[in-house]
Amino acid sequence: MKFFVDTADVAAISELNDLGFVDGVTTNPSLIMKSGRDILEVTKEICDLIDGPVSAEVTATEADDMIAEGRKLAKIADNIAVKVPLTWAGLKTCKTLTDEGRMVNVTLCFSANQALLAAKAGASFISPFIGRLDDINIDGIDLIADIRTIFDNYGYGTEILAASIRTVNHVSDCARIGADVITAPPEVLKKLASHPLTDAGLASFMADWAKTGQKIL
Ligand code: E4P
Repeated sequence: MKFFVDTADVAAISELNDLGFVDGVTTNPSLIMKSGRDILEVTKEICDLIDGPVSAEVTATEADDMIAEGRKLAKIADNIAVKVPLTWAGLKTCKTLTDEGRMVNVTLCFSANQALLAAKAGASFISPFIGRLDDINIDGIDLIADIRTIFDNYGYGTEILAASIRTVNHVSDCARIGADVITAPPEVLKKLASHPLTDAGLASFMADWAKTGQKIL
């Protein structure tokens, strides 16, 4: 399973990338706002740092304008995936841009039928939002499983990019189901390394080691 980092914070991306944990990056207008940076500048910086796909989201709502924005974003670097919302205009934009050979990530997906349309429109990635479904008492993980079954039934090549990941359990659930990619904030990716029994075990080893009076170096 590929790990994308869901942030426009270059320092955070760089830290995880140095460990080999970054297969790609996703951004959205809220994350660009949070970074306080210019979208074109920060996206270029991320694209230069990362070999994998970097999603940059259009902000227009009509197809013609979305297509124009998508073409401009795609010029930033070869590894740009143009991110479009799962609206009728977004699907038209997806079809046009994928026909031009560009990567497209269709975002704000909340149903299996929406995912099916994105696959038929040629999307490179579909982004179902787990956390936002959980927020309204609908199991977001069930949606990932449904889309996996449907895509496998028909051999769709669109990659399932599980988004709106809020917990470490979301990550392991997605891996169990067979999501192709998860995108998670840096804090969630870092938490994957934590376990209280690791902390307790290490504390006890260190206490016993101190009693030996030995040093390795
Ligand atoms: C990623 O592509 C999405 O924009 C992101 O995962 C949304 O996450 P949120 O629901 O925590 O804002």
